[in-house]
Amino acid sequence: MFERPRAGERAVLVRLGLGAAADPEDIEEFTALACSAGAQPVATITGRRERPDPRYFVGSGKADEIRVSAVEQSADLILVDHALSPSQERNLEKLTGRRVLDRNGLILDIFAQRARSHEGKLQVELAQLKHIASRLVRGWTHLERQRGGGIGLRGPGETQLETDRRLLGKRVRLLTQRLAKLQVQRETGRRARAEIPVPSVALVGYTNAGKSTLFRALTGAEAYVADQLFATLDPLVRRLKLPGGTEVVLADTVGFIRELPHELVAAFRSTLTEAREATLLLHVIDASDPRRDEHIGQVNAVLDEIGAGDIPQIRVYNKIDRLEVQPRVERDADDVPARAWISAAHGAGLELLREAIAERLARSVRGATLRLAAGQGALRSRLYAAGTVRAERALDDGGCDLDVQLPEVELLALAQAPGVRVAAVAAVAAVAAGPAIPAAVDGLLESHVPLAVADTR
Ligand code: GTP
Repeated sequence: MFERPRAGERAVLVRLGLGAAADPEDIEEFTALACSAGAQPVATITGRRERPDPRYFVGSGKADEIRVSAVEQSADLILVDHALSPSQERNLEKLTGRRVLDRNGLILDIFAQRARSHEGKLQVELAQLKHIASRLVRGWTHLERQRGGGIGLRGPGETQLETDRRLLGKRVRLLTQRLAKLQVQRETGRRARAEIPVPSVALVGYTNAGKSTLFRALTGAEAYVADQLFATLDPLVRRLKLPGGTEVVLADTVGFIRELPHELVAAFRSTLTEAREATLLLHVIDASDPRRDEHIGQVNAVLDEIGAGDIPQIRVYNKIDRLEVQPRVERDADDVPARAWISAAHGAGLELLREAIAERLARSVRGATLRLAAGQGALRSRLYAAGTVRAERALDDGGCDLDVQLPEVELLALAQAPGVRVAAVAAVAAVAAGPAIPAAVDGLLESHVPLAVADTR
């Protein structure tokens, strides 16, 4: 439905500084975005203005500079790193005789190319429709070109514009209904899953930090990795094996980016559900990026907004091969592993990271009531010995109910052991204060029962 840049399309890039000169790092990021969409940047036009010009956003002199550059470079397309009003976009198109895409249009386009799940695709299409709806005016031919004539689609006495609006409105309603239905289905699925608390770790981070590379390095899965922004739009879920044989769930999520178009916030957030429900977040950072601290702040701000601000985090400083830093794990004042320095691409520091994850997960405890069958006396003693039992109630059949506080990993393993039933689970996990849970819990079960975690794709 969208006219996206075709691969290799020659593009003139435009970025102004408002009130200051354009920042070279902003230009670099925008260039990466353009390449990500498949465009081939052939010229970059910068400048500064106090405020946008109503006609072209840029001043008329600058607009002409863009036109000349597009002719000289035989460009097919103009990409502007600002949000343009529909009329500014149209005026620039008329002046240059080229297609013009603003920042929001470009990001929508990339999301459309990358969305993999059904829901992700619907979300992106909805955002695209809303974006073009505001641009649907007489003489604006996106839909007409697509439909080529539209015999039978037009109502009596309707102009092309009215037809387009009606079709668009219909599609928007349909997509909204489907999304609502999917959301209900997902909630139900999640409630069913939540009964057994599978500890999960989610990778979050700024776009291009190396999340997919790390995901693959840790799980061996062939997640899609490309030197393109937003290589991941939907969470991927795989098992993660930790030292000692425990398995938990690892989810990859879409990369964060500054100035995300507001139409896309919903699509973006739907991909972050896995992060909101994680026991532990791995916040992946490109350690070689001069803006890394700014990015950390932006990622944390979004995590706060979606209610994931309090989930324990390990900051994973990736790409240390570019810095010649040795792999290591740093601890915070409470002696908790807080920062890992690694290279996902070179496999450096991955074992240290796995150990750090295991240690942090051992601190995430959850209250639960275990129903032990008669004859589970040995397990009952081990639970007492590990200091995990808060209360006990004897049952008529010789078994007992034990209120326990256990690391989520252990709870899950116990839930699958014969003779044990998890009768109730507290909704919220707590972070254990003080030293990590005693090593004695490792011996609660003779061996860990492997998780039955379904790969989602
Ligand atoms: P989005 O999907 O856009 O959010 O990106 P991502 O965070 O998943 O990044 P991805 O794993 O796709 O990696 C981005 C680029 O960084 C790719 O070109 C990787 O090869 C590169 N990369 C990842 N890890 C390392 C590393 O340890 N060292 C170096 N030098 N490059 C790396």
